[in-house]
Amino acid sequence: MNPKNNLFPKLVLLSGTPGTGKTSISNILKGIDNWYIFPLGEFIIEKNLYIEKDDARNTKIIDSDVVGLHAFAEIVKIIFNSRKLSLNTNYNALDNIDVIIVDSHYADILIDGIARFKENYEKNMKNFDLNVDLKDIKHLIRKFKDNESIIAIILRCEPYKLQKRLRKREYNEYKVLENIQAEILGESTQNMIEVLNAKHIFEINTTTLSKKEIAEKCKMIICESDKIQNHYKVGKIDWLAEMGKNGTYEKFFNTDVGNMEELEFFEGNVIHKRNDNK
Ligand SMILES: Nc1ncnc2c1ncn2[C@@H]1O[C@H](COP(=O)(O)OP(=O)(O)OP(=O)(O)O)[C@@H](O)[C@H]1O
Ligand SMILES: [Mg+2]
Repeated sequence: MNPKNNLFPKLVLLSGTPGTGKTSISNILKGIDNWYIFPLGEFIIEKNLYIEKDDARNTKIIDSDVVGLHAFAEIVKIIFNSRKLSLNTNYNALDNIDVIIVDSHYADILIDGIARFKENYEKNMKNFDLNVDLKDIKHLIRKFKDNESIIAIILRCEPYKLQKRLRKREYNEYKVLENIQAEILGESTQNMIEVLNAKHIFEINTTTLSKKEIAEKCKMIICESDKIQNHYKVGKIDWLAEMGKNGTYEKFFNTDVGNMEELEFFEGNVIHKRNDNK
């Protein structure tokens, strides 16, 4: 399924707070012919691109400039290995790719990666061993730069529902709280707005939807991004406003997640300490 019958694939940055369903939805979308999923988190681990481990968060720290550049170079490889583009070059004609979906809550760093790549085409092509015609890469980047072929979809989820979901994971309460705060404040959307024009960013409120329904909405947005109704445009989802009405947001913001020593808050009658591991 090709959204616009383009020569180059459409790049879809699928972002959202951890637990909002990016990988679940990607797993459904990858069943569509010629749609390709790029799981950025797995790529980072595979290529050892993280710089240190943050034990408190049980997470890995990345240098977003470095990862963005590596990820973009990988995407160039994926695209150019997949089709014969230019009349005077011979790329392996594997399956054509119509859509590449980047599954990551920091999918936005791809855009910085493109900028980094442009800083020195020759050096980057050599370093990443890209056997591609320079003019084809420039053409691709120009298209991306014009934002013609890049869109972002941010999956959003009501904070209490997300909290339940994250608690089922091996996350400690510190990490759960931090992620809930990020969701309430719309951090993934905010990060995306910094690098991509808001008219190319779409948000889906997944709270009451099945995975299949969300995948259908993503498909529709990807294929018809230029005619999407206001419903999916940025700014419609505002958890803070909703929680402000009944004062519940305080529950998530009266604890300073920056201060691990004092982390302790209440959920019903249960006190969660910072060293909870579940
Ligand atoms: N719409 C949904 N309905 C029911 N369960 C869902 C839905 N979306 C996601 N889940 C469940 O929530 C959990 C987290 O989903 P998933 O791993 O896809 O999130 P993610 O956004 O990829 O998270 P991360 O950023 O940590 O990789 C999974 O157990 C998944 O089955
Ligand atoms: Mg995931």
